Amino acid sequence: MYKLIKRDGNAKRGEFHTVHGVIQTPVFMNVGTAAAIKGAVSTEDLQQIGTQVELSNTYHLHVRPGDQVVKKMGGLHKFMVWDKPILTDSGGFQVFSLAGLRKIKEEGVYFNSHVDGRKIFMGPEQSMQIQSNLASTIAMAFDECPSSVAEREYVQRSVERTTRWLHRCKEEMARLNSLPDTINQHQMLFGINQGAIYEDIRIEHAQQIRELDLDGYAVGGLAVGESHEEMYRILDAVVPELPVDKPTYLMGVGTPANILEAVDRGVDFFDCVYPSRNGRHGHVYTNHGKLNLFNAKYELDPKPIEEGCQCPACRHYSRAYIRHLLKAKEMLGMRLCVLHNLYFYNHLMEEIRDAIEAGNYKAFKKEKLSGFENNA
Ligand code: GUN
Ligand code: ZN
Repeated sequence: MYKLIKRDGNAKRGEFHTVHGVIQTPVFMNVGTAAAIKGAVSTEDLQQIGTQVELSNTYHLHVRPGDQVVKKMGGLHKFMVWDKPILTDSGGFQVFSLAGLRKIKEEGVYFNSHVDGRKIFMGPEQSMQIQSNLASTIAMAFDECPSSVAEREYVQRSVERTTRWLHRCKEEMARLNSLPDTINQHQMLFGINQGAIYEDIRIEHAQQIRELDLDGYAVGGLAVGESHEEMYRILDAVVPELPVDKPTYLMGVGTPANILEAVDRGVDFFDCVYPSRNGRHGHVYTNHGKLNLFNAKYELDPKPIEEGCQCPACRHYSRAYIRHLLKAKEMLGMRLCVLHNLYFYNHLMEEIRDAIEAGNYKAFKKEKLSGFENNA
């Protein structure tokens, strides 16, 4: 259940109530594809860096260790020792980006596992069954994410099929939630808007899926190669077509600037691999732009990554020490950068929520954006 607390322009400050607790929105979901945040980040770490929601992937967990293993271990929450909300992506997108040799049919997608090459079939029912076995808080609908350069005719047909798949997802989830041996009988379902860069296809699709009265709505198929301006244009067109009293989730986005712009257009949920992936490469976020800690200018720099940051890295360690760890390929170097970056994202969302509540989101956004442009 989503409660809209405050609106500032189009920006929304809300609360999303789930069986695993309340999510304060706007929120950034920390990506743990295979039930772990890459960079040796533990559950205790996640508590310290202010994580509200963890995100895992249906496709990866189905391939390894297998959703039956996770179910037998009591579901994803018990398995990874995380009792707050978990969102699972449906597998659709990962099948398209990772699996080799795939064939899309009305019933679903045939593809080869990226781990051992074995043949797998996944359709809407299979995706819902796997997500039910994982027992995540929020399951995503099984969709097709057409390429950003796909032709209009292809996109139109693909989106129509995604809508038919969504009806099948909703029906299957209702059936699974009513079974006695389902771990989370309150699992929620978010639909996904598609339509590549065609505003009219996106709008028509949004109008169709909002009729289904789902728990939330995602905008998918963005940040897949189009420009930032194109992404903002699509958001301007499609977010107003989605219900204001439900959460809106922009999948796979993005940079801190992308998040600030999308919040201003009414988006509530985000996820992105940038903070963890960049952290593993020694690239760290600050309010004055991104730093590359491999740079020689940090060799004798006694300052923390960011002055005043309360993350586990900045409270204790200097840029010079973390740079040394990274260069010596010590695991701690990577870990500290990932912790700082995730803290930075989670903390940015907290500042965003405060600014919306205070009714000065536009001014806040402008100030943040100008800070990111100066490199420290
Ligand atoms: N993650 C990023 N984009 C997408 C998308 O379009 N669909 C799904 N299922 N996941 C995504
Ligand atoms: Zn820090």
